[in-house]
Amino acid sequence: MDEKLGAMITGMGMAVPEKVLTNFDLEKMVDTSDEWIRTRTGMVERRIADENTATSDLCTEAAEKALKDAGMSAKDLDVIIIATVTPDTLFPSTACYVQRNLGATNAAAFDISAACSGFLYGLTVGDSFIRGGMYKNILVIGSETLSKITDWTDRSTCVLFGDGAGAAILQPSDGKSGIMKTHISSDGRLTDLLIIPGGGSRIPPSHESLDQRLHYIKMEGQEVFKYAVKAMGDAAVKVLKEGGVSSKDLTLMIPHQANDRIIQATARRIKLPMEQVYVNIQKYGNTSAASIPIAMTEAIEEGKLKKGDYCLMVSFGGGFTTGAVLLKY
Ligand code: UT7
Repeated sequence: MDEKLGAMITGMGMAVPEKVLTNFDLEKMVDTSDEWIRTRTGMVERRIADENTATSDLCTEAAEKALKDAGMSAKDLDVIIIATVTPDTLFPSTACYVQRNLGATNAAAFDISAACSGFLYGLTVGDSFIRGGMYKNILVIGSETLSKITDWTDRSTCVLFGDGAGAAILQPSDGKSGIMKTHISSDGRLTDLLIIPGGGSRIPPSHESLDQRLHYIKMEGQEVFKYAVKAMGDAAVKVLKEGGVSSKDLTLMIPHQANDRIIQATARRIKLPMEQVYVNIQKYGNTSAASIPIAMTEAIEEGKLKKGDYCLMVSFGGGFTTGAVLLKY
């Protein structure tokens, strides 16, 4: 095993809005059914932020819990990295709002745009800062309010997404725990498969763009599905091989929660029984960059991930982006 350990996770926290939207609620909104959503995706309910809650609000709650868990003060933070595709504003970054909310006056703050792989991209950047000796105390958050960019008239997407945030504190390894291997990759040839076409510099907001509903998520679901199965499997195999860890040594895989069938295919690819795969898609749907840190927080709280266990995180998302992180927790 390659035991050169980088950043260690010393605190985790999560936040989800109170409002629950069930499959039965969705049946009243679009032409869909609880049966279709459950069998095609594994989702049963998801959380939806109210009109006064933005992404930075969920980030702040998750970050406060993670700081408490790590026994740290916000003033100790050197860097705040936030992965999101639903920033509070196009600029400044959501990370700057969170810095203000936390009073993390000594931190540099910036956002990462890597869609559903954003949290693993963030862990990779944070791990590099720590391995390079540049910073010691890093807050990485994956957070989304996807409900705000969801087209609630489009049944092919609106049943899939939910809101939430998960936060991790990274610090240098104590020699027993830490990130072993990271992998990030992208395929920009597939940008059109999962996209919000409007609202940026290509199609600035206009009455026409609003009328054409270009400010909402558009997705070619089946194409995304095929790509995801291959990309997640390849990334999982790669980091396990590079880390010299076999799936028999793994305690837990925490995959991006986009579709239960994609998760099962990834587990099959590395021959990992589903009992060792953390799945909470039924409660939260797809929360994009937030799904892995939310799942990890719950797995730790439920005693499914303990100190010294080997954990594999793996994701894919719009871009396309892929990420995998092998961690000795
Ligand atoms: O984090 C990355 C985000 N994206 C993803 O992870 C998405 C990956 N893709 C998927 O998870 C799946 O492709 C979906 C769940 C989106 C769709 O499942 P599918 O098995 O690929 O269904 P499909 O798109 O092939 O659609 C099958 C049928 C179609 O009807 P016809 O043409 O067979 O009559 C759709 O119109 O299901 C219909 N359909 C629905 N029916 C009821 C599509 N959405 C719905 C719906 N309720 N919500």
